[in-house]
Amino acid sequence: LGVFTYDPAFFATASCTSAITFIDGDAGLLFYRGYPIEQLAEKSDFLEVCYLLLNGELPNAAQKTEFRQIITHHTMVHDQLARFFNGFRRDAHPMAVMVGVVGALSAFYHDSLDISNPQHREISAHRLLAKVPTLAAMAYKYNVGEPFMYPKNKFSYVENFLYMMFATPADDYVPNPLLVRALERIFILHADHEQNASTSTVRLAGSSGANPFACVASGIAALWGPAHGGANEAALKMLEEIGDVSRVAEYVQGVKDKKYRLMGFGHRVYKNMDPRANVMRETCYEVLKELKLENNKLFELAMELERTALSDPYFIERKLYPNVDFYSGIVLRAIGIPTNMFTVIFALARTIGWVSQWNEMIGDSEHKIGRPRQLYRGALKRDFVPMEKR
Ligand code: CMC
Repeated sequence: LGVFTYDPAFFATASCTSAITFIDGDAGLLFYRGYPIEQLAEKSDFLEVCYLLLNGELPNAAQKTEFRQIITHHTMVHDQLARFFNGFRRDAHPMAVMVGVVGALSAFYHDSLDISNPQHREISAHRLLAKVPTLAAMAYKYNVGEPFMYPKNKFSYVENFLYMMFATPADDYVPNPLLVRALERIFILHADHEQNASTSTVRLAGSSGANPFACVASGIAALWGPAHGGANEAALKMLEEIGDVSRVAEYVQGVKDKKYRLMGFGHRVYKNMDPRANVMRETCYEVLKELKLENNKLFELAMELERTALSDPYFIERKLYPNVDFYSGIVLRAIGIPTNMFTVIFALARTIGWVSQWNEMIGDSEHKIGRPRQLYRGALKRDFVPMEKR
């Protein structure tokens, strides 16, 4: 192949060096900046994890307070941006809306688009982290026909998101602390995952010098597919389609006959249990218990599906285990998040990963534009054929 190697779908290509996230797929390990995901999910909170991913170290108390203030300060979006929503049909998928409105942020912040300036990059990162939840909640409100709820500074990051989603001008919404904690965990678990399809998309778009808002919009687009972030929505729809524990064996047979894939199962890198799935399963138990939904049909179905698959040679030979999205849908459903918002939640949480990876790349003065090669398989040189001879 001459000077380059053929590696379709990048099974064996490291596209960059990075100091952000470490995965050992065989051992089932995931670390952010060296810290195991299980410890962060149990002991940390999402904003602290964001600070860690972006800056490389956990914040001390003063840094944490300051970071929270900065992010809170940026949660509002320009009133003109709110008008973008009216251009969409009410029944537009919220991910379609997110691709549009997050990309549109590029048109509002000309004061911080000099990407060679580290301070500008930091402000853009803060703006994205702060404004994506506001836009996500607006996408939901637009979809259900309720008025937008402006962010409230007294709330934490996660509480605020729930408030903007579920409060209405007619009530005093108080977020349930256990559900806040569960969503906090979902956000932490989804915050970064090294060079997955959407993050690679963000890096590739960013490598040309495109602005970070446009780059994150490209990441949202890449995330949407059912093989990636769309899997949480697809997994819940699958459970609903199976409908009853008695149909699990028949459904699994269909998977083995390659009629469809088991959504929320398998991973390019994890060939052992996805460590995020372990935390998610535990969170799922807690939430269902708190909400007195222990006999939740979908959860029972998921457990039976997992049991059946994990004892079947088809899945064992291919090293297919549940991934994070097998359980996250059930938790999101229990929190009251509608299915078409699941991938939006993933995008919201992954925004910090995208901007941290983008910032790391742009901060490396040696980075170059990404430019994969190809294996050409088309016609060889031939002469143009005039119309009358075709
Ligand atoms: N159900 C049934 N069979 C599967 C599945 C599945 N979910 N995933 C892989 N396989 C089979 C596949 O058919 C193939 O079998 P064979 O060797 O007989 O052809 C073998 O396992 C290897 O599959 P692959 O497509 O080469 O694996 P990949 O590394 O390219 O795909 C994946 C990874 C995540 C796209 C895939 O496992 C999948 O489609 N899973 C379902 C979607 C999903 O849950 N995605 C979320 C991933 S985690 C969240 C995120 O980070 O995005």
